[in-house]
Amino acid sequence: MKQIIELNVNGESYTVAVNPWQTLNEVLREEINLTGVKLGCGSGDCGACTVMVDGRAVSSCLSLAVEMVGKEIMTVEGMAPSGEELHPIQESFVKKGAIQCGFCTPGMELTALNLLNNNPSPTYNEIREALAGNLCRCTGYKKIIEAVGAAGQKMKEASERKTS
Ligand code: FES
Ligand code: FES
Repeated sequence: MKQIIELNVNGESYTVAVNPWQTLNEVLREEINLTGVKLGCGSGDCGACTVMVDGRAVSSCLSLAVEMVGKEIMTVEGMAPSGEELHPIQESFVKKGAIQCGFCTPGMELTALNLLNNNPSPTYNEIREALAGNLCRCTGYKKIIEAVGAAGQKMKEASERKTS
């Protein structure tokens, strides 16, 4: 039997009727129409479905929607809330040519955000490690790693400017 729940996604509240077994991925894509979140393997192996929940990157294919009540969910659509300017990570992916088909990009960017929030100046290897659970079927890893490094630098400079 369906339950009516309220989900907070990208700062907006959505009331949805869900079955207890429906994943967050399915509800985001099919009920809320946020198709930036992708479904790849459906089993926690590819990272394409990554979203942020209460500031932590999680696999939406492994999370039940009913368990997300009261939490703050962010999808790639929420990274640049004004809709006018891209988030520095997104900008960096574009500038560095780190996008090919784009299927892995939302998950990569949210995993990168998770990393940079915790470690603003990651080394090349730290970025590689952080992205180890995100697969790119186009195999553009080098540019993705470079883009994350450049975004980290940019975000760090911006926060230093704010505090000086
Ligand atoms: S679709 Fe969730 S990890 Fe692959
Ligand atoms: S850009 Fe195609 S899967 Fe990564």
